[in-house]
Amino acid sequence: MSCYIRSPTLALYMGLTILGIILAFGLYATNLRCSISNIQPTSHGKTWWTQREDLSRKRSWNVESPERLLYKQPSATRGGSDVMAVTPWLAPIIWEETFNPELVDAIYKPMNLTIATTVFAVGKYIRFLGEFLETAEKHFMVDFKVHYHIFTDQPQEVPAVNLAAGRKIFVHQVPKLDRWQDISASRMQMIQTIIEEQVHREADYIYCQDVDAKFHFRWGAETLDRLVGQIHPWYYDLSRDQFTYERRPESTAYIPSGVGDFYYIGAMFGGTVEDVYRLVKKCHENIEADKAKGIEAAWQEESHLNWYLLHNKPSKVLSPEYMWDDQRGKTEVMRVIRLSQILKNYGEVRENV
Ligand code: GAL
Ligand code: MN
Repeated sequence: MSCYIRSPTLALYMGLTILGIILAFGLYATNLRCSISNIQPTSHGKTWWTQREDLSRKRSWNVESPERLLYKQPSATRGGSDVMAVTPWLAPIIWEETFNPELVDAIYKPMNLTIATTVFAVGKYIRFLGEFLETAEKHFMVDFKVHYHIFTDQPQEVPAVNLAAGRKIFVHQVPKLDRWQDISASRMQMIQTIIEEQVHREADYIYCQDVDAKFHFRWGAETLDRLVGQIHPWYYDLSRDQFTYERRPESTAYIPSGVGDFYYIGAMFGGTVEDVYRLVKKCHENIEADKAKGIEAAWQEESHLNWYLLHNKPSKVLSPEYMWDDQRGKTEVMRVIRLSQILKNYGEVRENV
């Protein structure tokens, strides 16, 4: 042991090294303190956005399963179905038989979540609201706390519907716009506004749906995730060059040919409040930028949604079971239809063609 300090040069080197280590640690610790205090604003000065971001960082993603729940053993080699159940970026695609509903409920129900949902019942579309709400009470997030946010120009026409415990309706009055294209495109901005004004305080997740639709079957907690897109029922079996993306390079929603994952439907998107907020804010900004140049994207907010989800991949993708279209007969791949757009006479329900 003493042999190490016998040489004075060695002792000097060792002393310098130790001093160096102490100095380096001191500098590191000072920096560390600074960067921590920099990213921790006082709770007094916090905006709702930083509070939500803290919440999403703290949120526990543990998948806790009850001890004695019995369910079918999953196979490591055979999928429950012959459909594609995962995207190339490893997000699950939700089809019947890819999940166990009892197990999903047993995991998510104890989390005490509140799910906000938005529908737009403007002009003649108010006629669809009653059936949407009545069927939602039977199939949509049953036994969860649900806040229905209804945007309408006719608050007095919102039907009285019996809601299960923990479920509420909020009515937001909006102006009646003349063109259905404008009603459709303005949804991004209105969803942004209610998240800022109310939903950020009250809900964990938010799902945005079309009102001209009806639930038929379970639409449950298997859909919950950070950012969720829904495959359009008319395009799940077509090539990407047949997708009705916005094809003009002047538009912010432009998607060139040879590019694209899925064609997502504008009638359903969702996720955590933070992620949906980022989505609607960006789409709203892009819609405004296009408007300033006199451009309206091919399918209004649906085109902007497709651009957003191409560049910000969804963490979960819903199969067409979650928003079918009754104009298309049930195809072979569809085991169940959970929600579908009902048949309607466009000439009768739209103010313009
Ligand atoms: C239609 C649908 C429209 C739009 C369009 C896209 O089937 O009704 O809302 O999504 O497809 O091509
Ligand atoms: Mn619709």
